[in-house]
Amino acid sequence: MWRQLLDNGREALGTHWPHSLLVPAAAVGLGGALLCWRLHGKKVKTLELGEGWWGPGDRPHLLSEDTSIRPFIIEASEADIEDLHERLDRTRFFSPLEDSRFHYGFNSTQLKRVVSYWRNEFDWKKQVKILNRYPHYKTTIEGLEVHFIHVKPPQLSSRQKVRPVLMVHGWPGSVYEFYHIIPLLTDPGKHGLDPNVVFEVICPSIPGYGFSEASHKKGFTAFAAARIFYKLMLRLGFKEFYLQGGDWGSRITTLLSQMKPESVKGLHLNFLVLPFGGLRRLKSLIIGRYAPWLVGLTREDARRIYPYMEKNVFAILLESGYLHIQATKPDTVGSALNDSPAGLAAYILEKFSSWTNTEFRNLEDGGLNRKFSLDDLLTNVMIYWITGSIASSMRFYKENFPRNYNSTPDTKIGVYVPTGIAAFPCELVHSPQVWAKEKFRNIVTYTFMPHGGHFAAFEEPEILARDIQNFVLKVEKL
Ligand SMILES: *[C@@H]1O[C@H](CO)[C@@H](O)[C@H](O)[C@H]1NC(C)=O
Repeated sequence: MWRQLLDNGREALGTHWPHSLLVPAAAVGLGGALLCWRLHGKKVKTLELGEGWWGPGDRPHLLSEDTSIRPFIIEASEADIEDLHERLDRTRFFSPLEDSRFHYGFNSTQLKRVVSYWRNEFDWKKQVKILNRYPHYKTTIEGLEVHFIHVKPPQLSSRQKVRPVLMVHGWPGSVYEFYHIIPLLTDPGKHGLDPNVVFEVICPSIPGYGFSEASHKKGFTAFAAARIFYKLMLRLGFKEFYLQGGDWGSRITTLLSQMKPESVKGLHLNFLVLPFGGLRRLKSLIIGRYAPWLVGLTREDARRIYPYMEKNVFAILLESGYLHIQATKPDTVGSALNDSPAGLAAYILEKFSSWTNTEFRNLEDGGLNRKFSLDDLLTNVMIYWITGSIASSMRFYKENFPRNYNSTPDTKIGVYVPTGIAAFPCELVHSPQVWAKEKFRNIVTYTFMPHGGHFAAFEEPEILARDIQNFVLKVEKL
């Protein structure tokens, strides 16, 4: 075959080169072509944006999509509060298990305290006022009412540069996770942060979560969410912006970066999903146990990933039962949670306990008030409760874990936008930079955060905000 190619080439060139020259010439040509293909490939290898429509019934005619952006105000309805109180009053608690702490899931003695606070002290109307402190909006995209908050810096001098950042929450969170970090980003000078790195913040609710309408059709994946949020940013007039995310927000913003790298100035993540890594990863793990530096692992990486079975395999088995349920039969458990506020609080707040620090499972109260106020935690639960969105939020797992999870199109291309990674020590899985580099080809900052877990924005707004600022400064000096 080579012979024939060479002959064809010679004919095409129309010259009669001696054989001895032709072979090296062809090799150079082939090499050049390969190089070209690689460089070219790097530039244009993006994820397809695709398209979708998720409303009920048949898709209406294309021209009819309403692109208006409508202000939205959350209301605390008396009927909702009454219904909630009735249900809380009728909660059926079960008999205690001695010394169980949080080892069997949310401790029901502690749940009694939470329910009592919720029923007698928690003031939903007051929390709704707090929720409405930032401007909320809705707009229709791909047949769904998409909810978001959009917060601009309070006072702007004309010389001040404002950077738009899209921040995406995860499960079982909501836009409320960002309420404490927003002022640090929109008005950093007032809070002791670098006054020169100012953001305007856009936090959408993932469709099916809180105030964003759930898909009526099967197949609503993180790809669809990424595309919808991209359309949202375009609709708001942003051609270039920063992205930030943890949990599902990390996956969604990463996919957006792969779809529209030209629009993404930088991607900041506090959670990573890395592909399995195969034999190379295994080798790195085995060698790294004894000589981390040989495989590019730092001492801190080693401290966070070893003993590997204990810290990764067993730890994940102990914490991922929910994932298997939600990725297979979300509507079954959804039926119970959507009907019982106490059950919903147990299910959601258990995650805020153990994902903040797995050691909290050893505490009688799950350590919940060590990092969060009950008002904040219950406000997040209320967002799921009043919107009846727990089942649809869990379906997102089913839609995103097809059989070929490890070979979805995004795994075949890297992420080339400038990326910042904040690695929190209590995150469930640690992703060393050397592994992250295989997927994220342009890591600009990688920070071992001193404390904090999975709900970084909610738990550690200040150090997260500083890391985001630091990342953006580095990106802008590139
Ligand atoms: C909750 O944990 C405490 C402390 O371990 C234990 O005494 C109690 O029985 C537990 N409650 C339930 C309902 O199991």
